[in-house]
Amino acid sequence: METERILLRPWRESDAESLYKYASDPDVGLRAGWPPHKSVEESLEIIRTVFGNATTWAVELKETGEAIGAIGYGPSCDCKLPARENEPIAGYWIAKPYWNQGICTEALRLMIEQIREKTDIPSLISGHFIDNPASGHVMEKCGFVPTGETCIDESQYQGENRPIRVLRLELLRD
Ligand SMILES: CC(C)(COP(=O)(O)OP(=O)(O)OC[C@H]1O[C@@H](n2cnc3c(N)ncnc32)[C@H](O)[C@@H]1OP(=O)(O)O)[C@@H](O)C(=O)NCCC(=O)NCCS
Repeated sequence: METERILLRPWRESDAESLYKYASDPDVGLRAGWPPHKSVEESLEIIRTVFGNATTWAVELKETGEAIGAIGYGPSCDCKLPARENEPIAGYWIAKPYWNQGICTEALRLMIEQIREKTDIPSLISGHFIDNPASGHVMEKCGFVPTGETCIDESQYQGENRPIRVLRLELLRD
């Protein structure tokens, strides 16, 4: 999956250094609900575990070959969003130096195109903390529609009881 400037490809163990460089920034993970990475070793472990599946990709900037973000979808069963049965949840982040250049929108459009072409998934759910409007903007640019708000008080969200805006993409086909 690629455009002129980005490639979505599987994560590699050799991405650990760049993953640590960008995912150790608290401005990235905390907005998405995960703690900043503390070491290259931790980033490597994330690549082997969390990113080690067929529906999570590195967002590679073709110009440099560097992984500058992650995007993917997966089971929503433990995310506590009001998902339909078997409805996957979509998620992503982009390294801070590359924000507001349209990269995430480009990556999300690519992933949606791939889902439409290669799967019969009828819809995707996602959500963002209401104090992170840029993420909602990305989803809406890609066709997601707001469906309401929820609140999650879980350790995976650092125990903060921040409201989450929930959005859904209906993948209508001919
Ligand atoms: C959210 C995130 C992925 C967006 O990535 P990005 O590559 O900067 O996204 P894009 O450039 O494609 O689009 C961002 C849009 O949000 C808009 N935006 C930025 N800051 C905003 C703000 N404070 N309020 C409203 N809109 C905002 C931008 O103007 C842009 O819209 P435009 O293209 O119409 O001008 C990135 O900021 C990020 O990784 N944040 C931390 C992790 C995270 O939040 N992940 C998602 C968890 S739900």
